[in-house]
Amino acid sequence: MLKIDIISVQPQMFRGFLEESIVARAVKKGACEVNIINLRDYGVGKWKKCDDKPYGGGPGLLMLCEPWFKAVEAACAARGEEGVLNTVARRIIMTSPAGKTFTQRDAELFAGVAAPSNPNAQTFSHLIFLCGHYEGFDARIETMVTDKYSIGDFVMTGGELAAAAMVDSIVRLLPGVLGGGPAATASESFGREGLLEAPQYTHPPEFRGMKVPEVLLSGDHAKIEAWRTAEARKLTKEQRPDLIK
Ligand SMILES: C[S@@+](CC[C@H](N)C(=O)[O-])C[C@H]1O[C@@H](n2cnc3c(N)ncnc32)[C@H](O)[C@@H]1O
Repeated sequence: MLKIDIISVQPQMFRGFLEESIVARAVKKGACEVNIINLRDYGVGKWKKCDDKPYGGGPGLLMLCEPWFKAVEAACAARGEEGVLNTVARRIIMTSPAGKTFTQRDAELFAGVAAPSNPNAQTFSHLIFLCGHYEGFDARIETMVTDKYSIGDFVMTGGELAAAAMVDSIVRLLPGVLGGGPAATASESFGREGLLEAPQYTHPPEFRGMKVPEVLLSGDHAKIEAWRTAEARKLTKEQRPDLIK
């Protein structure tokens, strides 16, 4: 079972995410365990300080090394692991606008899904997400990090939404979490062929003069599949030409 720890100074931000989402369902089904760790518990001194002014001057505050190292060490110890280095099945993932952009390929990798990006279906037992705040992390914190990810070229106040987005996309790929299984996710956007998903329709067959394409009502599965592939290619060419190599 995949164990996920998320370390944050705002643990309350994960309340809805853990109680109401697909992640809650996955935890109930035993596909994963998700634990939120309050960085403040490892803060320095009486006031549990987690930040300080940057050396060399500049605006804002930076996150201190000590709380982060202690929190990660505690997360590893709580899972029966020793130390924070030499990881194979464990990844320590920093959220940062300066990281590599997180994609479906990364979600597949961390979920242990067999895919071209993960041909050996490498599996991980423990993922630890670090949610930064203020001006970000003291650079020395990166020495214990195995991966640094951004969720896009914009800057948010904290790493909580980034961690939640990544965890959601990973957890929904774990076996048994989604009804349709791997087939359902393979035909989605960024799936098997790396294309966007073709347009989809449900009842009624006509709504305010807008008709569902006839082929989808034909019952001819080969024709439907061909139509979907053609539409997926067309849509991707129009909206995300960068995805077509
Ligand atoms: C205000 S940001 C710090 C930005 C940092 N000073 C910089 O210029 O790169 C605070 C924290 O939010 C998180 N964060 C902000 N934008 C993000 C993004 N696009 N992807 C992932 N994490 C992000 C990171 O954890 C970051 O440490």
